[in-house]
Amino acid sequence: MCGIVGYVGERQAAPILLEGLQKLEYRGYDSAGVAVFDGGILHVVKRKGRVRELEFARALKGNCGVGHTRWATHGAPSEKNAHPHTYGKFTLVHNGIIENAHILREECLSRGEKFSSETDSEVVAHLISACYEGDFAAAVCRAAERLQGSFALAVLSSDFPDTIVCARMHSPLVVGRERGGLFVASDVPAIAGEGVEIFSLADGEFAELHAGEIKFFDANLRPAPPHPVEYSSKEDTPALCGFRHFMRKEMSEIPSVLKNCSADFLKNSQYMQFFAALSGAERIQIVACGTAYHAGLCAAHAFEKFCRVPCEVSVASEYRYRDPIVPPHTVCFAVSQSGETADTLAAAQIAKERGAFLAAVTNVAYSSLTRISDAVLQTNAGREVAVAATKSFNAQLMLLYSVAAHLAEKKGREVPPLSQIPAAAERALEISEEVRGWTAHFLSAKSVFFLGRGADYFTALEGSLKLKEITYLPSEGYPAGELKHGTLALIEKNTPLVAVVTQKPLAEKTMNAVHEAYARGAKIFLVTCFEELCARKEVFASLLLPACPEEFSPAVAVIPLQALAYYVALARGNDPDKPRNLAKSVTVE
Ligand code: F6R
Repeated sequence: MCGIVGYVGERQAAPILLEGLQKLEYRGYDSAGVAVFDGGILHVVKRKGRVRELEFARALKGNCGVGHTRWATHGAPSEKNAHPHTYGKFTLVHNGIIENAHILREECLSRGEKFSSETDSEVVAHLISACYEGDFAAAVCRAAERLQGSFALAVLSSDFPDTIVCARMHSPLVVGRERGGLFVASDVPAIAGEGVEIFSLADGEFAELHAGEIKFFDANLRPAPPHPVEYSSKEDTPALCGFRHFMRKEMSEIPSVLKNCSADFLKNSQYMQFFAALSGAERIQIVACGTAYHAGLCAAHAFEKFCRVPCEVSVASEYRYRDPIVPPHTVCFAVSQSGETADTLAAAQIAKERGAFLAAVTNVAYSSLTRISDAVLQTNAGREVAVAATKSFNAQLMLLYSVAAHLAEKKGREVPPLSQIPAAAERALEISEEVRGWTAHFLSAKSVFFLGRGADYFTALEGSLKLKEITYLPSEGYPAGELKHGTLALIEKNTPLVAVVTQKPLAEKTMNAVHEAYARGAKIFLVTCFEELCARKEVFASLLLPACPEEFSPAVAVIPLQALAYYVALARGNDPDKPRNLAKSVTVE
């Protein structure tokens, strides 16, 4: 989380920093700041809130500077805690968490040094200052040796007002070069553009940006080779194309994303090697977080049902610390839109170290996850800007369903056709507009429930997560049969309950739970593909989904739930693209 950008070259730095920060705002948006050298004088400006609050800084003069957009970890979101942080001759921006910051801070305090923020990041500026003996890069390198945790750093020094030194450990960082200028950023889109070559830094590496040249170093300050990043020009700023929000625009892309995804997956050059490993797999493990975890649950359902391979799905942050058992012949799927989620990366690394064949399912070709994986299956959903994942979820499902279907066919098992899914999604998108009429019943709900059984339960989980994250309404996704084991106590008069019913053999079972909730006052909103259920007396409002093979229904049934979250968020006056407290790319633990 947090976005870093830096520039040194012939152009004015401030506009480049501000435009870069705008593109990185999905990484955090509680405060922002820039520091620019004008001659030898450093100007630092910071503001609480969004990057737009810094617009006045565009007028700063100077050719070398760094900028930051923050997602608070240590210290509240405030101007004081906003980056850049300065101590002595050093000013820096940081992404990550310094886990031993409290010890280092005590050391600094015992030397009589004063702090101006509550952040872990400021400690790094103190440490670099303490390590400095005239060599800028060496001071950053020596300070980095003492840091525990994760960091991506871009550092300025008043002794070298035309140089940026960068360092990376477990937090993404790339550097770029164009004729007459050098860049550093947390992510490619911040600096991508015509004629810009981009290189990634590996963990433990450093880079010095000076006089049109990037020097790469290892942890011992020995020259290191550059790692070029291939990126497409589409990485530049995506446009809203007439939509009010990226979330709605990205939902509109779901049908075409599903089509591409099912058509493309076999074309992948690494697919044969991956499929050989999968064909011999005796166990599948899936590690992921949030929405990607829900995609993993749906996929596991398909792998077990169609391929009869045991499949275990874990929240990555739990997997990494539970000493996981990875039996021989395990294929591990790490599912991550960004490919940068710290917990997913760590879980994937552990699975690989313990012998699993590691397959990345990701939307970002040059991400950290792709670098550690044995094979990369790209979802090709196009850049997702809204913090709430929509099209990337549908794409993860389509890709994993396609793989499960391919494996099942290889094993001689029958699988319903996937080809119906894109058209069903298109229809679901059209009728999703109807949920606008439901929003009034959700606006001030104390809590909202989403129920389902089998694959519908996973849709319910994802619908609930979407609602929570952008509307801030308390919400739970629940297996329909579990409600009566405690949670039913929460149902009051008019509590909104969304039931997802697309699984024929389980439909009446879910309707039992719906009835129990209705009897206690719940207001029932039904999302189903069975017309006869819509007329039931307990149903307050319903949405009739197009037909689709029930095992794959989450890819379609989730669409009206995404729309519901979107319209409720709008009606509550929230920005659906930038929900409070969240960030798109979660690169810290
Ligand atoms: C929810 C959402 C998050 C992400 C999670 C994992 O809408 O977007 O729950 O799914 O942070 O992110 P990735 O997929 O980038 O690993």
